Parts: sequence; structure tokens; C-alpha cells
Amino acid sequence: MDRRQFLTSTAAFAGASLAAAPMMSFALETRNADDENFWKIIQHQYEVTDKVTNMEAGYWGIMSIPVTQAYIRNTHFINSHNTYYVRREYGGDYNKIIARIAKKLNVGEDELVLTRNATESLSSLISGYNKLSEGDTVIYADQDYGSMQAEMRYLKKYRGVNVVDIAVPEPASYQNMIDAYEKALNDHPKCKMILLTHVSNRTGIITPVKEITAMAKARGVDVILDAAHSWGQFDFDFQDLGVDFVGFNMHKWIGVPLGVGLMYIRKNRVLDIDPLRGEAGPENDDVRKRIHTGTVNFASVLTVPDALDFRENIGQKNIENRLRALRSQWVDQVRDNNKVEVLTPDDERMYAAITSFRLKGKTSYEDNAALMKTLHEKYKIFTVAIGGLANGGAIRVSPSLYNSRDDADKLAAAINDITG
Ligand SMILES: Cc1ncc(COP(=O)(O)O)c(C=O)c1O
Repeated sequence: MDRRQFLTSTAAFAGASLAAAPMMSFALETRNADDENFWKIIQHQYEVTDKVTNMEAGYWGIMSIPVTQAYIRNTHFINSHNTYYVRREYGGDYNKIIARIAKKLNVGEDELVLTRNATESLSSLISGYNKLSEGDTVIYADQDYGSMQAEMRYLKKYRGVNVVDIAVPEPASYQNMIDAYEKALNDHPKCKMILLTHVSNRTGIITPVKEITAMAKARGVDVILDAAHSWGQFDFDFQDLGVDFVGFNMHKWIGVPLGVGLMYIRKNRVLDIDPLRGEAGPENDDVRKRIHTGTVNFASVLTVPDALDFRENIGQKNIENRLRALRSQWVDQVRDNNKVEVLTPDDERMYAAITSFRLKGKTSYEDNAALMKTLHEKYKIFTVAIGGLANGGAIRVSPSLYNSRDDADKLAAAINDITG
């Protein structure tokens, strides 16, 4: 029995523990983000706890029911076929998955390698970037992800470089973010590399990556892009960004089972990232030698096509529109509340699903942890408190496709109730 036959014959097994998913038989071309009936069908493709209204999809994404079923089948398959499959056939299936992702991102198959998460991709890129000499400068910002900031700081010890931490302006705008990076580049002419975060996990802000990368490249400065949150959350032309080194996640907004990330290195730049810890000689230009995961969850990887099918059935633009609509549904009701600061601008180029806010003057992490607790315990809405921003902590709200407009209304009502 080959893998396809196995999966078909065990379909009932996979569904046994899950509520049956309604048929996804909708005519996509006649639907749009304003059609609530369409989104009710999609909501029912997810099995989500009713203990809280979960608006914390930023950590990772809940799999849809069809993807969960595929994952259970794949787990069963891997468990029963074990190395007999993995040693003989997994490589071919892996290559097919890479080919499909490469087509979607419009990049070469030899520019991608799967990882276990964005952390693995980005730490390999940052620590492996070998164009730095003692006395050079690298730059990161306050809205970047904590462990990537740490990886950048480690370059001081590891490569002898000067590490500069800048603050993204608050309130942020498209132009003042570009200006902030331009100023940083002017102030630090020895800068050789900057870390950019496409969608900040702290603020949800979409960084003007294309403009900042063009500006950096014109000065001979490389950009390493943290795209952990962007692919899947909104629609963009990856090639248009002009970036050469990128870490992605597939278990956040693509809805793949936990344990799958992705690394991209532009073909002519592979030699600028060291092979991982002596995995190959420095002249080796195989992108796959920049990562060594060891044994992975093969079932998670094999479920990537099912997650892509699910998303393609809905349509990336429809997903983006829905996520923005859920975000705006609550933000529009609190934007004029003078006791609330919404950190994520309403400029359509700068937000997707994630938006952060704080109550005016409540800037400590503890203030925001207390607010998160109130939202959870009194209003049964789950969000997350964040710290690390130059101007103080906030609450991050990340709705997903399993949320409704009513969920967003409930959050807005809670915030307005708390502020009196
Ligand atoms: C901006 C950003 N970068 C990187 C990561 C790391 O992702 P993972 O924990 O899946 O490795 C995260 C996770 O939340 C993130 O938000």
C-alpha cells in the first residue's frame, strides 16, 4: 500500500475524534469578506475551545478540521511505516512540497529549506551571516522579536561588531518608519546588516520592508527579514520586497501543524551564510547545508500541502480581507476613546490581523499583564500582554478565521467598559 492508498483507507480513523466538518462547497468567486454566511462556514472548519473567546492567534495558528484530519492520518502513516517510508520516499515528497512552496513565493526550489520554526531559520541566518568584520555595525529595533534581538546582540561577542538598538517611532507612520531607519543608517555609516521584522509580534505593524531594503542595499547594507508573521496573514509579492535572507513560519498564519518553518536565501547569496557548524565546507552553496534539524515531525511536514489546499480554497486575498475586517471591527469602536492608545496605525499598508493597544499611562508590563487578566477573567477574552517596546507595554490582539465579528464587538465593549 503506498502513501496515497494508506491515507484514503484510513480517512475514517482520522475523523473519529473530530466533529464532522461541514462541506466546503462554496462558490468562491461570488463570495467576499463582507459575506457573513461565507465566513460562518469557514468558522465551522475550526474546533476551538468555548472556555474563552480566543484572540491570541499570534502565538501559533489553530489547524482547521480538514488539516487536523490530514495530520492525524499522516501521523498514523508515519508511525506505521516508520523508516521504511522515510528512508526510501520521504525525500521525494519533501522535494514536491518545496517545489509547491517555491511556486507560491515565486522563488527557486534551491533557495528554500524547511526548518522547525522561524527561530531556527533566523538564528541560523543571523549567526551564519559571514560578511561582518570587527568594528562593523548591525542594527535592530525595539519592535523586533526578543530572541532575534538577543541573536543580534550576541554578534558583538561572536563577530566583534557594534550592535545598535533603535526605537520605532510611536505613533508609527509609513514615512516616519522609513525615516527612522534612514537616520539610523546615516548615524552608523559602518552598518553592514539590519534585522527587519515584516509584521511585528509586539505591535502588529507591517514594516515598509521594500523601501527600507532598497535604501539599505543602496548603501551596501544587507537585510535579514523576520517574516514569521507575514506570509499567510496578508497578501504580498515576495519578490517585490527585494530581500535576500528570510525566516518564515508555517505554523502561525499558514495553519500547518506545529513544527514547520522555512528559510529562504537568494541563490547568489548562499555563500554569505556559513554552512551550519561545519556541516559542509565554506565553498558549498547548497541552501540545505545551512540548516540541520535532525529528526523532525515528518507528519507535520507531510501535512503542508493540505494546509495550502485549505487556504487556496478560501483565497489569500479573502483571508487578508477577513482578518483586516475583524481587526477594524474592534479598533473602530475604541479608536476615539481618549483613554486608549492603539499602537497600530490605520494606514492600510501597515496592518493586517494583529493590533496592539494600551490604556493611556499604563505602560509597564505589569499594568498590561493585569489588563490581560481582567479581559480573561471578567470578560472571557484571551489576549496577551507584551513588553519590550521603548514606550512601554501593551495588549496584543490577534483574531483569526475562527473568530466572528461578534467576538470583535465583545472585545471593543470590554475595553470601553473598563475605561468607563
Ligand atoms: C516576529 C517573530 N519572529 C520569530 C518568532 C519565532 O517563531 P517560532 O517560535 O515559531 O520559532 C516569532 C514567534 O512568535 C515572532 O513573533
